Amino acid sequence: MAESTKTATLSFEGKTLDLPIRTPTAGPDVIDISKLYAQGGVFTHDPGYTSTSSCESKITFIDGDKGELLHRGYPIDQLAEKSHYLEVCYLLLYGELPTADELEDFESRVTNHTMVHEQMHNFFRGFRRDAHPMATMVGVVGAMSAFYHDSTDISDPWQREVASIRMIAKLPTIAAMAYKYSIGQPFVYPRNDIDYAANFLRMCFAVPAEDYEVDPIMARAMDRIFTLHADHEQNASTSTVRLASSSGANPFACIAAGIACLWGPAHGGANQACLEMLREIGTPDRIPEFITRAKDKDDPFRLMGFGHRVYKNFDPRAKVMKQSADEVLDLMGIHDNPTLQVAKELERIALEDEYFVDKKLYPNVDFYSGIILDAMGFPTSMFTPIFAVSRTVGWVSQWKEMISDPTMKIGRPRQLYTGHTRRDYVDVENR
Ligand code: ACO
Repeated sequence: MAESTKTATLSFEGKTLDLPIRTPTAGPDVIDISKLYAQGGVFTHDPGYTSTSSCESKITFIDGDKGELLHRGYPIDQLAEKSHYLEVCYLLLYGELPTADELEDFESRVTNHTMVHEQMHNFFRGFRRDAHPMATMVGVVGAMSAFYHDSTDISDPWQREVASIRMIAKLPTIAAMAYKYSIGQPFVYPRNDIDYAANFLRMCFAVPAEDYEVDPIMARAMDRIFTLHADHEQNASTSTVRLASSSGANPFACIAAGIACLWGPAHGGANQACLEMLREIGTPDRIPEFITRAKDKDDPFRLMGFGHRVYKNFDPRAKVMKQSADEVLDLMGIHDNPTLQVAKELERIALEDEYFVDKKLYPNVDFYSGIILDAMGFPTSMFTPIFAVSRTVGWVSQWKEMISDPTMKIGRPRQLYTGHTRRDYVDVENR
C-alpha cells in the first residue's frame, strides 16, 4: 500500500489530533484511528462496522457502487467464465494465477486429501438423524482438530499449509456425509479421478447399489456456485474467522466458527430462507401480499434474496448465477415449475417497484443459487452447507494472510457502555 502523508484533523473538548490517512490501492481512504484512545482518550462507535476497516488485506476487493468483485485484481465474471474453482482457490491462497504445472501440483495435493479419517464416520453417528447439516458441519469441522493434530501449530508455516489444503479438500466430503447421514443413506467415499465439483455431486447423489454418472452441465454449474462464493472480503463469517484466530486458536476451530456465523439467515442461510419463502408464496398472485409485508415497517418480514450490505447497484455474482440457473433449468427441462414462476415474477416486480428501486434492493447471489440447487435435487437444508464448502477457501486465505502478518494483534473491540454505574450488592432478603 502506498504511504500517504495526508492527515485528518479531529477537534473535540479543546484537543486537536492529527490522524494519519492511509490510501488503499482501490476503495476509499482510511483514517487510521489506532492511536485515538492513547492520544485522545476516546473510542469510536460503529455497530455493524458500516464505516470501519478491520484489517489490511490484499485478497479481495468489492466496489459496491460499481457492482464489482475482484479476487487478487481479477473480476469475478472473468473468473466464473474462464477459470474454475480450484484455480480460483490457488489464486486466493497464493496471490497469482498458477502456471499449468503449479495448477496440476495443487490439484493433486487437494485430491490426495479428500478422504476423512475413518474414525470420523463414528463421530457423525453421534448426531441425531434429523440434525440440520450445518449443525453437523460446525461440530465435525471443529472436531478436525482432534483428528489432525499434526496441522494445528499455527506458528509453523508448513502446518498452516497442510491445514489449509486439508480443509479445502475435506469440506465437500464432510458436507456430503452430513447430507447422506440426514437421509439415512451410506456415506459415499470420494473419487479422486473426477474433478472437485463432480466428486461432490457424486458423494451427494450416488448410492453403492447403482452406477452414477455426473452430468457435465451439472458439474459446471456446481463449480460456478463454488467459484462465485469463494471469497467476499470482510463479511460476517470471514470477520468471525479472523477474530477467532486472532487469539491463536487452531485453524479447524476458527473455520468451524465461520461456519456457525454463516448459518444465519441474514448471511449464508439466505439461500435456504429464499427458496422457502418462494415456496410459501406458492403462486404469483400472492406476490403483492408479500411485497406489502416487506415494505411494512411494523412487519419484520424481508424479501429474502434481495439487498446486500455492500452492493448497492447490483451483485455481479447474481448475473452469472442467473445464466447458470437458465442452463441448469433447461437441462432439467424445468420451465414452468411453480417456484420458478414465483421467482421470475417476484424478480420482475421488485426490479420495478419504487420501494426496492429507491433502496437499491436488487436480487443477490442467493436468489438464483437456491433455484439452481433446488433443480439439481438438493434439499434446502443443504444450501448453506454448500455455501460453507465454497467459502472455506476464502476463510482459509484470509486466516493465512492474518497469521503471517507480523503486526497481528488479538481482536478486542471496545464498547459504548450504557448500563448501571457502580452500585452495591443488596442481600436477597432486602430486595
Ligand atoms: N426486503 C425488504 N426491505 C429490505 C430488505 C429486504 N430484503 N433489505 C433491506 N431492506 C430495507 C430495510 O428495511 C431498510 O429500510 P429503512 O431504510 O426504511 O429502514 C433499508 O432497506 C436498508 O436495510 P438495512 O438492513 O439497513 O441494510 P443492510 O445493508 O444492513 O442489510 C441485508 C443488508 C442484511 C443483506 C438485507 O438487505 C437483508 O436482510 N436481505 C435479506 C437477506 C438476504 O438476502 N441476505 C443475503 C445477503 S448476500 C450473502 O450473504 C451472500
